[in-house]
Amino acid sequence: MRIFKFLLLFIAVPLFAQQGGMWIPSMLKGMNETEMQRLGMKMTAEDIYDVNQSSLKDAIVHFDGGCTSEIISPKGLLLTNHHCGYGEIQSHSSVEHDYLQDGFWAMSLSEELPNPGMVATLIVSINDVTNSVLEGVAQLNSEAEKQKKIQENISKIQTTFPKENWQENQIKTFYEGNQYLLFVTETFKDIRLVGAPPSAIGKFGSDTDNWVWPRHTGDFSLFRIYAGKDNKPAAYSKDNVPYTPKHFLPISLDGVAEGDFTMVFGFPGRTQEYLPSFAVEQIVNSLNPAKIEIRDAALKVQDGFMRKDKAIKIQYASKYARVANYWKKWIGENLGLKKSNAIQLKKEYENEFSKNVAAKGKSADYGNLLSDFEKYYNQINDYALARDYFVEVALRNTELLSAGFRLYQLEQVYKTKGEQAFNDRKNNTIKGLESFYKDFNATVDKNVFEKLITLYGQKSPLIPSEFKTMDYAKVTNEVYAKSKLASYSGVQELLKGDAKQVLKKLNKDKGFILIKKMADNYFTNIGPKYDEIDLQISALQREYMKAQLEMFPNGRFFPDANSTLRITYGQVKGYSPSDAVYYEPVTHLEGVMEKYVPNDYEFDVPEKLIQLINTKNYGQYAAKDGKMPVCFIATNHTTGGNSGSPALDAHGNLVGLNFDRVWEGTMSDIHYDPAICRNIMVDIRYVLFIIDKYAGAKHLIDEMHLVYPKK
Ligand code: ARG
Ligand code: GLU
Repeated sequence: MRIFKFLLLFIAVPLFAQQGGMWIPSMLKGMNETEMQRLGMKMTAEDIYDVNQSSLKDAIVHFDGGCTSEIISPKGLLLTNHHCGYGEIQSHSSVEHDYLQDGFWAMSLSEELPNPGMVATLIVSINDVTNSVLEGVAQLNSEAEKQKKIQENISKIQTTFPKENWQENQIKTFYEGNQYLLFVTETFKDIRLVGAPPSAIGKFGSDTDNWVWPRHTGDFSLFRIYAGKDNKPAAYSKDNVPYTPKHFLPISLDGVAEGDFTMVFGFPGRTQEYLPSFAVEQIVNSLNPAKIEIRDAALKVQDGFMRKDKAIKIQYASKYARVANYWKKWIGENLGLKKSNAIQLKKEYENEFSKNVAAKGKSADYGNLLSDFEKYYNQINDYALARDYFVEVALRNTELLSAGFRLYQLEQVYKTKGEQAFNDRKNNTIKGLESFYKDFNATVDKNVFEKLITLYGQKSPLIPSEFKTMDYAKVTNEVYAKSKLASYSGVQELLKGDAKQVLKKLNKDKGFILIKKMADNYFTNIGPKYDEIDLQISALQREYMKAQLEMFPNGRFFPDANSTLRITYGQVKGYSPSDAVYYEPVTHLEGVMEKYVPNDYEFDVPEKLIQLINTKNYGQYAAKDGKMPVCFIATNHTTGGNSGSPALDAHGNLVGLNFDRVWEGTMSDIHYDPAICRNIMVDIRYVLFIIDKYAGAKHLIDEMHLVYPKK
């Protein structure tokens, strides 16, 4: 027995090798805590999450629903990414004060800028409510009935679970419907902009460097949480005061070295780590290539125009960045899934799973799971592909069609809800489309349209036959010559009059007729069937998750990301992206100058930064070798939503700010491979250096608590 235990210890070590994962902060005791301490952490699980005393989690803030941010001073100062605050920085900008180009720094509290509508959410407690949510569900027969009962239970628990009157309850599902957790939250509504570097620092490298290592971007911005005089959430008021947090993060000036423990604490959005091999095959071979091809075509057209025309460049910059972000991610994801043999590894794992099912006498329960998956994924393939074609071509990348789709929805509102609802919706639509057309260029869009409608007609399954045989160039010319959707004034004209008049005009418009055919086809022949099969797949996925937990009781299963608070941890580490190439884990300011292209929109460097670099005026922020670190990478398993998350050292001090992943490792949303998956962080010393030496905002540094744990 003794010897056996001893052997187990030996075997256990490679099994415990760092494998990624996004863990629930209230459930770290046991396997995670042991593993974290083995990797170098000097804290306990309670230091990270504690309901009764202040802990690290009290400094982690969901930033306006999408990104993460963290509190770094006793006065509610919030740190997040430049790309997370981008919309707010832009909205305060004008030709006279271009904060995107020049940066913005409030030199006192009174200069901090309010952002109506923006919210920041703290997590008060995490509670397991699985049993109450699943009460009375097992005995129901159909999947639809089960889901309905679950929703009823959730609503009931959310209204009755004890909380303070300024707090909210929210229930989320984990492990694909096998676990339910209730979060008590506090949402602050007065969030003010404090500081942002110029884009030449905060967005240095722009799209060319996006998802790329080595990186030299100072992707940060600063906000502040304001509260009522009672320190509770309150709507904006000039009388509100800076929030006093339960905890704020001390900042370490010691920096990181290869091998150091780091953890990232934040709100990752969505991962799909437990898909069966059939699903991954579909993504790699069918769905991703289609989406990449569509976006590739649209981006090439837009880029051609943006390079020739400055006004178009401004109109399309932000749209282009959004479309390019995931286009580039999917390319990296596909390369990584292939390179890491993800499908083959999944298949081997599935064989292992099947063997266990048979050995444990569970064939009656789980014996058909994988063949059912295969059946449903075969069934859904054409519907999923047709759905992607419709969404990418009509809704996301051809502007005339996506504007037309809003009018299509307006017609549906009339048909289902009548005249009054139509009029309300019409007024909103007119308002919404005004800003849409401000950044619309009909010539650019026409060229995009021709490329995309051709791809749709030639490649999408399940479409009306006329799309397969039409003369795409001719249709394009007709639509952009005749459709009123090609300009805002045209749309205003279309929408003049009562519902009957509007609908009559719409149904004579060439552009509207076209999107209506596409949308009608989608809503009759694609969407309903897709949803039906997808519901079956979700039910299987839930069973499969439950089965995996049972068949591999010592497995290392984390619940897929779902925009809830998670911890991921690892070590600072370089990687080898391809044969003979090795990337070191830290970049320096010298690298900024290597990439410098004067007046380039991606790689320009501000004059003042060049001076600071030339004089090596780095103050207390330089590393021991005298160099100024900019970014670093580690094996933390992150995803979209982790932008702005703090990177913490072994003691819980802030050492970096997460903002991206390396291109070769973007497949980590589906398959995490510790050999090449890395997250990218800005070194906190670079952030402080920019605030202090570049912006001269020393008063902000004085608010913070700087520590030197190794000295
Ligand atoms: N790739 C990073 C994240 O998804 C940064 C995106 C913003 N930056 C950009 N150049 N588009 O989402
Ligand atoms: N930039 C991403 C975000 O906005 C984070 C990078 C990632 O996807 O890992 O959340």
